[in-house]
Parts: sequence; structure tokens; C-alpha cells
Amino acid sequence: MAPLVLHVTGARPNFPKAAPVLEALAAYDVEQLLVHTGQHYDDKMSDIFFRQLGIPKPDVNLGVGSGSHGRQTAAVMSALEELFEERRPDLVVVYGDVNSTVAAALVASKMGITFAHVEAGLRSFDMTMPEEINRLVTDKLSDLLLTTSTDAIGHLGNEGTDPDKIHFVGNPMIDTLLKNKDRFDAEAARAELGLEGPYIVATLHRPGNVDDPADVKELVDAMHAVADQAQVVIPLHPRGRARLEEAGFLDHEGMRVIDPLGYLEFMGLVRGAAAVVTDSGGVQEETTVLGVPCLTLRPNTERPVTITHGTNQLVRRDNLAEKVREVLATGPLTEWDVPPLWDGHAGPRIAQILADSVGAAKRA
Ligand code: UD1
Ligand code: UDP
Repeated sequence: MAPLVLHVTGARPNFPKAAPVLEALAAYDVEQLLVHTGQHYDDKMSDIFFRQLGIPKPDVNLGVGSGSHGRQTAAVMSALEELFEERRPDLVVVYGDVNSTVAAALVASKMGITFAHVEAGLRSFDMTMPEEINRLVTDKLSDLLLTTSTDAIGHLGNEGTDPDKIHFVGNPMIDTLLKNKDRFDAEAARAELGLEGPYIVATLHRPGNVDDPADVKELVDAMHAVADQAQVVIPLHPRGRARLEEAGFLDHEGMRVIDPLGYLEFMGLVRGAAAVVTDSGGVQEETTVLGVPCLTLRPNTERPVTITHGTNQLVRRDNLAEKVREVLATGPLTEWDVPPLWDGHAGPRIAQILADSVGAAKRA
């Protein structure tokens, strides 16, 4: 019987990372089982990615939904424990740094099931971020650590991780970007939203920006100062939407809040933007490859390679407007660098490592 490889996904950023791995692993003699935990469930936060990226429909949806960290993580753990008992996977694959990731890592590890972490070793060194806790726990327990950048290898080394477990494979989210780039239609995005002239795309969902009312007030003022310079389009994540709206986010000329967009529509909009303001992890990487200036509204990033190689810079609420002015004055970038191995072939590299670990050969 072919070995069983079970993939755990659950939240929006997981899907563009898992897509190329699932595709590349299909070339090997393994059975694949795709699990969706149900952490994200709105069509625009979940199903649309499967349709647009051709990801197979999940074999299992655990339907855990939203909840506090403890409740959500526990719900994923108890459902996965039952599933792993039943299916006895030979290898579990987890992606990124969300609650579904750490929940799967804890269950696999306690059941003695080998598991691989795609996007291992990223560190913001900011323990107020729930993702940093998820990253540390997941990596500590992981049997195969697949990294997107060389700084990640350094972090894992400093933490005493066995070097034989670490593999530098590149960035599968960028595989998805490069594969679909011809489908990112900036003109269609512009026409759909009736945009004229330079515009800025913003995505904001980190607790550090949208949870505390005092932070939200400052954020609203900072974004209004941005809208005074260019139109701002914000496909707003459901987290914090109510709080931002209550604080008058929309009550300013040039501010355009819309629902989250499908991957292709979002990337089309980003591709045509004069700049992006974000607190997303993935968007820092995508703008780096597209050459769109990225202003990251956070005190730190676990993706410093997007600053050293890419188009990213960290900004604060109190200097955001000034940084936007600088970027608009500079105009479109003509030269920028892309980090090593962000080349569209991470999926096949990851698949080879996963297949080797379960002793699977390529299908004839
Ligand atoms: C999660 C991840 C974060 C990631 C983000 C990507 C954790 C701890 N956080 O944050 O790292 O950057 O996803 O988008 O795992 N909601 C909906 N519809 C949905 C999903 C969520 O309305 O389909 C609302 C609910 O009110 C929910 C809130 O968003 O309580 C937060 O969702 P949750 O998955 O807990 O965290 P995110 O903020 O989405
Ligand atoms: N994204 C999208 N539509 C949107 C906003 C983001 O398709 O309206 C995509 C984005 O291109 C990236 C992923 O969602 O591929 C990033 O997810 P998110 O910002 O939610 O999570 P993070 O990367 O911060 O964990």
C-alpha cells in the first residue's frame, strides 16, 4: 500500500503554500489526504482559493470555525487526534504559523507521527505575536524543517535544531504567484473598482493594529493621511472590521473598504498599485517578487529577506504618511532583487524531500 501523506491546512495563507506541494507530490507513489480544519470558512477566505488555484477539494473538513486561541487550537487538536487515530498517516505536513499549524504539530508529535513544517524557522522575536509562539512550538517538534530563506536556517541552528532535519527549499507561495502571474489582471482590477490614477492597496488584520481601540484610532488617522495623497483600497479581513468601521475608518474621502478579494483579483489589484500598506506576512513576500513597494505597518518582521532583497520597509503609524509620500515621489521600481530560491520550484523540492522521507518513488 502506498504511504499516506496527510496535509493540514485551515487559514487563508495556508492555501497558496500548500497548492504547489500537493501538485508536485502527486507525481510520487503516495496517497495524499487533504485536511481543512475550518479555521477560515468564508468563501473569500477559503473556498475561492481552492477554485482559483485548482487545489483538490479537501477530503476532510473539521469545521472548527472561530474561537479564542485555546478553544480553536483545542478543537483542531481533538478533531485531528481522532482523524490520525483512524487514518494512521505515515507523514503529516503543516504550513505556516497559524493555530491550525501548531495544533497539528502537537497532535502528530504526541502520537509519534513524523511531520514536516513548510516555512520553518521564520522568527520575528516578538512574543506578543501569536504566530511567533506557533512557530517556535511547531519547529521544536518538527522532524523535517523546510525553510524559505537562509536566515531561517540560522535561527534554527541557534535554537539547537539538528542540521540534518533542515532543508532550504525556497518559497512555495512564490511558486503559486509565478504560476498564476499571467492571470493577475491589473487593468481589470482598476476597471472593476473604477480607479483612476495612482492607488494604494492596504491589508490590515494583525491584533497589534486592529484589536486595541487606541491603536485603531491611530491607525485610522494614519490611513486617512495616506488617503489624502492617493486613493486607498482596502480588501478588509473580517478581523477588526467592526472596530475599524466604528472608529470612522470609512469616513474620509479616498478611503475604499471592500470585502476580501479572491487570490487572482487581489494579486491583480496589487500588481497595479503604486504601493501596498500591510501587516500581512504573505503580502510582504508577494510584493517583493512583483516589485511593488511595500510598507509594512509593524515594529518587526519574520521575513527580513523582503527588506534586504525585496521592496519592503517597516513603518510606524506616525511616519506612514511620510513614507507613502517618499514612495509616490520615487515612482515605480525599475530594479529590485528577489531572494534566493524564490524561483517557482519550491513545490518539487519539497515533494522530493517528503517522498524520500516515506520511501516513495516517482510514479512510472
Ligand atoms: C489568522 C492567523 C494569522 C493569519 C491570518 C490570515 C492565528 C493565530 N492567526 O488570524 O496568523 O495572519 O489568519 O488571514 O491562527 N473570521 C470570519 N470569517 C472567516 C474567518 C475568520 O469572519 O472565514 C473572523 C471571526 O470573527 C474570527 C476572526 O475573523 O473570530 C479571527 O479569525 P482567526 O482565524 O481566529 O484569526 P485571524 O485574525 O484570521
Ligand atoms: N489575499 C487574498 N485576498 C485578500 C487579501 C490577501 O487573496 O483580500 C492573499 C494574499 O495574496 C496572500 C494571502 O492572502 O497570498 C495572505 O494571507 P493573510 O494576509 O491573510 O495572512 P498572513 O500572510 O498575514 O498570515
